[in-house]
Amino acid sequence: MALTAPPGGRSIFSPATVRERAENFENYWVYLRHRDGELLEAERALANKQPVLARFQEHPVRSRRPLAAPERFYRNYVTMRDDPRTLDRTTLLLTFLYKFARHEWVGISAAWDATPTLADSEHLTDKISRYHLAEEFGHMRLFHEMFETFRLDRVEWVPLPNWVKQVYSVFTRMPPALMSSAAFVTELMGFTVYLHLDKILDETLADEPEARERVRGLLHEIAVDELGHVGLRRNYMGPVGRRVAKRMVRPMFHAFFHSMPEASLLFDIRRMVKDAEGFDYATIPPEMLRGAWVPSYFWRRP
Ligand SMILES: [Fe+2]
Ligand SMILES: [Fe+2]
Repeated sequence: MALTAPPGGRSIFSPATVRERAENFENYWVYLRHRDGELLEAERALANKQPVLARFQEHPVRSRRPLAAPERFYRNYVTMRDDPRTLDRTTLLLTFLYKFARHEWVGISAAWDATPTLADSEHLTDKISRYHLAEEFGHMRLFHEMFETFRLDRVEWVPLPNWVKQVYSVFTRMPPALMSSAAFVTELMGFTVYLHLDKILDETLADEPEARERVRGLLHEIAVDELGHVGLRRNYMGPVGRRVAKRMVRPMFHAFFHSMPEASLLFDIRRMVKDAEGFDYATIPPEMLRGAWVPSYFWRRP
């Protein structure tokens, strides 16, 4: 059955009924199993995602030239030690990608240990969470490919300092309404980053057309999943959660990007905040919408 977006689209903050939300958890679960295939607990991976990664690895693309000064990447990728304004744009982009991905990695590693395995999951939402996390681990592998594309094969996933981990653990102890809003804004922030990354790739990697398209392809694989996560996280929120989430966008974006000195040099953060607050499925590029999951209440039958 053909579905089209309603004219003018619909904001991600639009209301949905309790019943619609319940149905959408079921829909998402059907979608996940179909799209991702079997969940492989030991590998923290998904059967249908493995061939996608293998395809990238079997047809490697490497930048034409190594980075001007790879040691500057390695000196600044975990913590920015130099003045970021002195880094070339490619290195700046890569150190940003690492810091961004590292936050994800820390969050999902902690969450993986705290969520029941698929076999032990009682609730549908627990099963969804397990798949969701397995998708995120898959994203880490795709990020790794981006670094390999730029001949950076010594990248390690370094744990975050303890104080940051403590901040993360506050999240898990928040009241459920607040927690679902914060989790939603995190996903919305991630997806907004992918949209803005896509816009700066042409200019930032102008001298490396093949590597640029490879990075774009890898980011695209991630972004389609993340668009689904935005919809899923929206689905957790009732009217109060939605209002809280909208107010959280600005402070959460600013706090997060403040911790990464690259961000304000690469992106227009205020634009990102505006885009996130005004997130509307009708404005998402069709190639990203294709294959992504969108809650049914954002679509209308013609
Ligand atoms: Fe993610
Ligand atoms: Fe996500």
